[in-house]
Amino acid sequence: MIRAEGLGLRYGDGDEGEAPEVLQGLTFSVPGGGWRWLLGPSGAGKSSLLRLLHVAARPTRGRLHLMGVDIGAARRHELPAMRRRIGMVFQDFRLLSHLSVFDNVALPLRLAGRAEAPLRADVTEMLRWVGLSKVAAMRPSLLSGGEQQRAAIARAVIVRPLLLLADEPTGNLDDAQAERLMVLLREMNRLGTTVIVATHNTALVERHPGPALELARGRLARDG
Ligand SMILES: Nc1ncnc2c1ncn2[C@@H]1O[C@H](COP(=O)(O)OP(=O)(O)O)[C@@H](O)[C@H]1O
Ligand SMILES: [Mg+2]
Repeated sequence: MIRAEGLGLRYGDGDEGEAPEVLQGLTFSVPGGGWRWLLGPSGAGKSSLLRLLHVAARPTRGRLHLMGVDIGAARRHELPAMRRRIGMVFQDFRLLSHLSVFDNVALPLRLAGRAEAPLRADVTEMLRWVGLSKVAAMRPSLLSGGEQQRAAIARAVIVRPLLLLADEPTGNLDDAQAERLMVLLREMNRLGTTVIVATHNTALVERHPGPALELARGRLARDG
């Protein structure tokens, strides 16, 4: 599913002095259906690595193979189709403020051209699952942080992605909501989705042990 060889990322196009590499020579792989915690302190490079895995940035050195495609060598027009197989839960949600919660979650299915009737059934079921049925018609700005986070998660998983990336997904959730989210992520993983969860919630990781990639200042400090 994921194979990284000597992967490096530098923001901007400055040289070493003004733009140091934030990811340095990462080599690892994650098999299809695998689970990885992505650990490391703030600033270690977790969000940057997720950006590469979401094909929202291209590596500035090394190689990244995603679902059999060499990202560095791929044509630009090939990338959107890949991204549609990847679900991303952003740390800052990125919900669209002019759409209802329902329409935010429905959006990826509508963009994929899904018929409206089955789509409505899927979205309704998903909103029930994440406990947002009652606020489905509301704009995201009227929701609590935890509710917005759950809406962002629903939007990422509604497309049944092959690869699910989540950036600090429990950051705005209380312990009970975080456990419920873990059940959802574990279930998706059990059904075959490759799942990568960036977090610095060590208590959560201790309650749900699993293989981890750990970053320290842009380098891979642990793989396993
Ligand atoms: N868009 C950006 N432009 C320049 N530097 C960035 C950008 N995003 C992150 N960085 C830098 O990259 C490093 C890693 O950040 P990040 O990937 O956000 O780490 P983490 O998610 O582990 O906190 C930090 O030094 C941060 O300042
Ligand atoms: Mg981050």
